[in-house]
Amino acid sequence: MSGFLGTRAPLFPDVVVVALVVVIPLFLIGVSLAKRKRLRAHLAVMQATFGVLAVVVVAFVVWARLFAPGAPHLEGTWLHGAVYRPLIFLHIVVALSSLALGASTILRARRRVISPERPAEVKLPEGYRGRHHLEGYATLSALILTSGSGLAIYYLRYIWVG
Ligand code: HEM
Repeated sequence: MSGFLGTRAPLFPDVVVVALVVVIPLFLIGVSLAKRKRLRAHLAVMQATFGVLAVVVVAFVVWARLFAPGAPHLEGTWLHGAVYRPLIFLHIVVALSSLALGASTILRARRRVISPERPAEVKLPEGYRGRHHLEGYATLSALILTSGSGLAIYYLRYIWVG
């Protein structure tokens, strides 16, 4: 089935590209909520955004293995070895890292701030704050790289004509 962005891409890559673009501002909204101490909202935005992203990425990996079309206009060109393949490698590494980092950031933060006795209270304990900030910004950096490399791959596969 063809996509909706008016490029050569099938439907699934279009869905993924839109998701990669939309999640970045959503994560930045999540950070700004944390800075303004709207912590329940921070938790909700981060978890929902990360959940949707994880489902889209996993579904895309399955689709790519089973149905992705080839890229004959790239094969045999200097771009294939010098740019496209390293980009795919980088993309896979940063995508897997952001999933792992995001899941661990959420699970640890939930364990540290949501106790069964005080489920309504969201506040990272002093000793853990710095760690969460570090993990949080590392997750965001990996996500931005995932999004950027994903957009570059989309461009080379479905827009660039050689
Ligand atoms: C992928 C998920 C998450 C990311 C990327 C993330 C990222 C961040 C970042 C970057 C900050 C620092 C903002 C600043 O510069 O002040 C922050 C603060 C905070 N986060 Fe998260 N967060 C995530 C999930 C969560 C979850 C699930 C919880 C709670 C269960 C949580 C609770 C907090 C709290 C309480 C603060 C404020 C800490 C303070 O008092 O400075 N975060 N988060």
